[in-house]
Amino acid sequence: MRHLLSAADLDHDAAVGVLDTAEAMAATQGRTMKKLPTLRGRTVVNLFFEDSTRTRISFEAAAKRLSADVINFSAKGSSVSKGESLKDTAQTLQAMGADGVVIRHQASGAPHRLAHSGWIDVPVLNAGDGTHQHPTQALLDAFTLRRHLHARGVITAWRVAGATPAPTGSDLAGTSVVIVGDVLHSRVARSNVQLLSTLGARVTLVGPPTLLPVGIDGWPATVRYDLDEAVEADAPDAVMMLRVQRERMSSAGGGFFPSPQEYHRRYGLDGPRLRALPEHAIVMHPGPMNRGLEISAEAADSPRSTIVEQVANGVSVRMAVLYLLLSGGTDGGIS
Ligand code: CP
Repeated sequence: MRHLLSAADLDHDAAVGVLDTAEAMAATQGRTMKKLPTLRGRTVVNLFFEDSTRTRISFEAAAKRLSADVINFSAKGSSVSKGESLKDTAQTLQAMGADGVVIRHQASGAPHRLAHSGWIDVPVLNAGDGTHQHPTQALLDAFTLRRHLHARGVITAWRVAGATPAPTGSDLAGTSVVIVGDVLHSRVARSNVQLLSTLGARVTLVGPPTLLPVGIDGWPATVRYDLDEAVEADAPDAVMMLRVQRERMSSAGGGFFPSPQEYHRRYGLDGPRLRALPEHAIVMHPGPMNRGLEISAEAADSPRSTIVEQVANGVSVRMAVLYLLLSGGTDGGIS
């Protein structure tokens, strides 16, 4: 594989390979000298047509910790505002010596177009496209899940002997993950459903019918409309709360139904629901959060929350992906 465009690009062994490579990267990040020489002399371009805090900064940190040069491009303030096309923008950046392009775009399919149009000839990494895919988010979520569930004894089957303390070689077989909320607009949900099922997890999607997409019955997941029922029936090892994407609702001309108050009452992770979860279950959110809507401050800031840790793990996961795609190595099946 030359590019990372979708969670579907990763089969089981490739996905575990990326997670294991990310563990190896994470092991280097506790050192005083965090930088590795791996991508010295290479240039990574971060091409962001849509706002981002976590993904943009963590791709930049990951590339720099691998000693790559980084060019950050933001559509705001660029010649895109004068009508310059994606093709011309990308070719301009390749002319400046890009060896890899990380792209976030509001249009679903833009990274695929960039990778397969012949406009540029370097690896393309999807940092989130429309409502379609966000594969590195799913990888960092799986990385976080694997670590926590291993530490709590939920994952016990190791495929590689003696690889302690990291859960190297293991997948998420037998675990239960409940993903809650605005699935309709969520590239995080789409990527996670694909990757988690590839890794053997049972996935449940919960949300109001108005925020679940047409065709969801064909996804490799159980669909429910009642969060309390899901917590009781599916005994989740993790609940992943999705951001309610009000900006995509208004751009589509749609309203927010149910109302924010009703949504929080029925689908928000509040204190009582937090306490109803299995004792070992963790609370996840990709960020940015709408506190008081899909998640209460009590849940977001609780000791069971992995939200800040997910951000930190994102650097190790993106280091792994950049290394595997740009170094020409074969580890993890990404080569
Ligand atoms: N989770 C995520 O993609 O966050 P950002 O939009 O801040 O990058």
